[in-house]
Amino acid sequence: MAKKVQDALKDLVSLCKRRGIIFPGSEIYDGLANTWDYGPYGVELKRNIKDLWWKKFVASRSDIVGLDSSILLNPKVWEASGHVGSFSDPLVDCKVCKERARADHLLEEKLGAGAVAGKNFTEIAAMMRENAIQCPKCGSKDWTEPRSFNLMFKTEIGVVEGTGNQVYLRPETAQGIFINFKNIADNCRQKIPFGVGQIGKSFRNEITPGNFIFRTREFEQMEMEFFCKPGTEQEWYKYWKDFCMEWLSEIGIRKEKLRIREHSKEELSHYSNGTSDIEYEFPFGWGELWGVASRTNFDLTQHIEHSKVDLRYHDKIANEKYIPFVIEPALGVDRLLLVMLCDAYDIEKTENGEDRAVFHFHPTVAPVKAAILPLSKDDELMSVAENLYKQLLKRFPVEYDETQSIGKRYRRQDEIGTPYCVTIDFGTIGKDGEDKRGLVTIRERDSMKQDIVKIENVESYLMEKIYPTQP
Ligand code: GAP
Repeated sequence: MAKKVQDALKDLVSLCKRRGIIFPGSEIYDGLANTWDYGPYGVELKRNIKDLWWKKFVASRSDIVGLDSSILLNPKVWEASGHVGSFSDPLVDCKVCKERARADHLLEEKLGAGAVAGKNFTEIAAMMRENAIQCPKCGSKDWTEPRSFNLMFKTEIGVVEGTGNQVYLRPETAQGIFINFKNIADNCRQKIPFGVGQIGKSFRNEITPGNFIFRTREFEQMEMEFFCKPGTEQEWYKYWKDFCMEWLSEIGIRKEKLRIREHSKEELSHYSNGTSDIEYEFPFGWGELWGVASRTNFDLTQHIEHSKVDLRYHDKIANEKYIPFVIEPALGVDRLLLVMLCDAYDIEKTENGEDRAVFHFHPTVAPVKAAILPLSKDDELMSVAENLYKQLLKRFPVEYDETQSIGKRYRRQDEIGTPYCVTIDFGTIGKDGEDKRGLVTIRERDSMKQDIVKIENVESYLMEKIYPTQP
């Protein structure tokens, strides 16, 4: 990775730590590589992202319902889904410096996305040699042959070590939806087409985790399986790609940083008749943010075969039974959060030529919606400000801050992306003439413009600005 890119990520990682957004995991014990803990502002950001997704993809739609399935599933689920047999990456080791890498990633870096699509391990080994792939750490071209490395974490159920049954931590939330398809279709009065959405943790023993929270071994996913009639899947596939792209714009992601990469025929999984990656231009280059896949009826068919349970949908009006086709938009919470951080962060020059670090978060995404700032440590000012703070706290996350100069307090709020700062000054308490009594100043983060508002209208003013129409 180029030094400039490393520095950009390093800056973001250190800002996130300094500002209580994301901390390195297990830090007091020298850390645990590639694990991260979300701090007070990070956890709010994450909750906002999940709430927005849930509202858009589940709660506000009559054709989609929610689910919260277990992380531990019967191991037969993963045999049926193909994860036991083929959820693996080609692992290679540098013979000189022992650096471990994914051969597919190294080849794609040099030859472009999809370069190893459909290739077996012998072909991948030959491609590594033909293209003289160098070790990113020491420059050597001497690699071991690729070995298959299954990404599923194993654990055991049972109280006595070694005697229990082996189970897996789920590598995706999707299978929990497929195995509950019949429960939902039979008991929840859903008629096809309908979808099932789920948010939850997934685990993958990634060979090369990294780039901060881009690729980790423990992460959260927001997945939706949309079940439709065979033959209508291409229409729905297009619908969901457009829907996802529109939503990213609604929540404030810059359009020019997004693109859709349609998988080539060779790249498609054997069960897919259309897959796209919605990609974002990260500081380290374009990378997958969201996968949208037309998965045919593969998963349900596999579960019918392996469980011997009839999972066909019964259309009572047409009096027919069929295995529905599925469109799946699958998104990582942490990955979208990284996109939000990269997309919103900026260092700007102010009018007086100073640097101002700011996160331009969409107000609904911002971890703190407003800061209440008494201009000085005057008892009456602080009391009015505290009362306003307590009133607003009942509606949304707000902060109260009376320390240091007003300029420094603005900067501190800019650095966590607070969209509004409300200043209570001597005018508010009538010490600057009667005409200013009861008025406060509200500063908007991006334009830095200030509005004068009556104190009793602050709550409605902020509600209107922050939640005009919910994305
Ligand atoms: N059910 C389909 C599925 O899981 P995927 O493309 O493997 O598809 C979907 O994963 C999304 O989950 C990705 O687009 C990405 O946003 C996120 N994701 C996958 N692996 C991840 C990892 N190791 N760390 C963080 N996010 C990950």
